[in-house]
Amino acid sequence: MDEKKVMLSGIQPSGDLHLGNYLGAIKNWAERAEQFECYYFMADLHTITVRQNPADLRRRTLEQLAQYIACGLDPEKNTLFIQSHVPAHAELGWVLNCYTMFGELSRMTQFKDKAAKHKDNINGGLFTYPSLMAADILLYQPDYVPVGEDQKQHCELTRDVAQRFNHIYGDVFKIPEPYIPKAGARVMGLTTPDTKMSKSIPEGCVFLMEKPEDIQRKFKRAVTDSDTERCVRFDPAAKPGVANLMNIYSAVTGKTMPEIEAEFAGQGYGKFKPAVGEAVIEILRPIREEAGRILQDKAYLESVYKAGAEKASYVANKTLRKVYKKIGFVAR
Ligand code: TRP
Repeated sequence: MDEKKVMLSGIQPSGDLHLGNYLGAIKNWAERAEQFECYYFMADLHTITVRQNPADLRRRTLEQLAQYIACGLDPEKNTLFIQSHVPAHAELGWVLNCYTMFGELSRMTQFKDKAAKHKDNINGGLFTYPSLMAADILLYQPDYVPVGEDQKQHCELTRDVAQRFNHIYGDVFKIPEPYIPKAGARVMGLTTPDTKMSKSIPEGCVFLMEKPEDIQRKFKRAVTDSDTERCVRFDPAAKPGVANLMNIYSAVTGKTMPEIEAEFAGQGYGKFKPAVGEAVIEILRPIREEAGRILQDKAYLESVYKAGAEKASYVANKTLRKVYKKIGFVAR
């Protein structure tokens, strides 16, 4: 049998998941496991580069794990773990710090952005974040790393560092390729159809765990457009708010744009907006209920992240041992 290609991604447990995350990405992850050997981890080591409330961080890490499982990431088919449970990440992170240049780290746009945003806490971890991320990736010798636009630069750096290391010591690391995921729906904010749905604008953001009545209220208040036509027609340039709602409706019902236009022909927005809200509520209901159930079942959740960490450690430690040997550390 052919070995499956390996894929890995880290998720920062720094905010609640929302409809944009789900329709844009997570929804497509469940089926990936058929084709790839997949590792996903909660990147808790990364979140402390900005100050976190300890109780919130702990709660969100577990909540997020529960939500991913509820969205269809099957822990039997994927390796799901918590980054800090696999010490090899921190260990290789230190090593790679010594193979990453000050100049390279200085050029990272995420560092520049975050440093500007958190002027009172420009710590060393924020600066060396990309070498920890390189360690996260290279430990598992993945073929692919699914990347969003904002993480491309870090993946490029990972490749550069890996190549630099291999150049000195021989083939230690597989050089990973970025993986551009099959395009999911691009969901815009309900109140700001010109920007991506984001937790920083909560009035326009539908969270996976939100109560149905709150979801419906947000859809009823969604921005449509100011033209006088007031009809459901797909025209992203002239009617971005309507187009966004149509995209969402299409993603959750599978209906095409002409079908949606026909369904609401001659009805204005009064029927359309609550219908989209209702469809979203129905899609999210089983996810919210399942995530709630999983969160209550502490023993189950613990068994998932323990098994995940064990499997991940096995693979990660193999790479780490090889690295330590190559650079001249005495074997344990
Ligand atoms: N830096 C990523 C983000 O902010 C999270 C992350 C950490 C990651 N380590 C990773 C993503 C390794 C992919 C691979 O979204």
